[in-house]
Amino acid sequence: MAPKTHPPLKQMNILGIDTSCDDTSAAVVADGELVLSSIVHSQIKHHHPYGGVVPELASREHIRNIVPVVDRALSKANVKIKDLDGIAVTVGPGLVGALLVGLSYAKSLAYVHQVPMIGVNHLEGHILSIFLEDNPPDFPFVALTVSGGHTSVYHVKGYGDYVQLGQTLDDAAGEAFDKVAKILGLGYPGGVPIENLARSGEKDKISFPRAYMSRDSLDFSFSGLKTAVSLYVKKWRQEENVDVEVADIAASFQEAVIEVLTNKLMTAGEKMGIHSIVIAGGVACNQALRDKVRACALEKKMGFHYPRPAYCTDNGAMIAVAGYHRLRMGERAGLSIDVRSKFPIQDLASMTPREQ
Ligand code: KG4
Ligand code: ZN
Repeated sequence: MAPKTHPPLKQMNILGIDTSCDDTSAAVVADGELVLSSIVHSQIKHHHPYGGVVPELASREHIRNIVPVVDRALSKANVKIKDLDGIAVTVGPGLVGALLVGLSYAKSLAYVHQVPMIGVNHLEGHILSIFLEDNPPDFPFVALTVSGGHTSVYHVKGYGDYVQLGQTLDDAAGEAFDKVAKILGLGYPGGVPIENLARSGEKDKISFPRAYMSRDSLDFSFSGLKTAVSLYVKKWRQEENVDVEVADIAASFQEAVIEVLTNKLMTAGEKMGIHSIVIAGGVACNQALRDKVRACALEKKMGFHYPRPAYCTDNGAMIAVAGYHRLRMGERAGLSIDVRSKFPIQDLASMTPREQ
């Protein structure tokens, strides 16, 4: 596919807003693929002392930041609100108070400037984030969305046509990274420090448990692994002269997560008979995970796609992509639309456009 350039016809500019967790983000995307601007205001420094996201703090920070973040996204894209073709905003899943900030602001902009609005499922945003990159996969493909709040595998048949094949039954993979980092005193969020530390450790040093459930299951479970690491570290701290470094614990933990994610993803790919695999979400930034999935995909002659780190972690651009396709399908949200803390992707199929 040729590199992306501005399309010659009138382009459709969508403002995407996401405030589902601890990032206030807004972006303007043309025609569901060309990013004109993408602004993300991270709240990490506010949540870091607590070792996790504090919902109340997140809502307050979103209120403080939503207006300047949207203003910056519009001015960087050189687009005026009245010239937008749509406003797409995350309505769930996520923290209710946090979601409400983005949705309320989107509603007020849409109402005042008479711009069509659409409510977007955050998980659909992650799945479609791959279309922000050059050379996206053809449908159908299998996608793993893996972050601090979710770990799910989908059969992606087309825009708006997703079948969930498996999901975590307890902790998300990113949550496991964050909790193990806390146990090891590495701070929050834990993914990057664990990955960095793991580089100098031996991944086969400690055999942490891998939860596969039943043979064909595509569901995940990471809470047992987290407990196993916690018990191991407690014992390790009491022992002296043991031939295990903290880097070995980080590397062995990371390997346990990556092995399960990769094996289940490949099983899903083979089951569905697809030709492309996609990973997205914050944990998809992990280089060791990318390397392992790439090697397995190559072996099975499948294409492997992942968004750049800025589009893996939460961002408004992926919401604009999902919103673009929904608006093109004729969907619109009225001002009565509300947030949904839980919003399984299966619910999208049962929603008629006006019910959004
Ligand atoms: O997608 P995201 O920004 O927000 C959620 O929707 O949760 O993902 C954040 C999660 C955190 O749990 C963080 O520790 C994890 O992604 N993460 C990583 C890496 N970078 C971020 N996990 C493993 N390795 C990484 N390099
Ligand atoms: Zn996310």
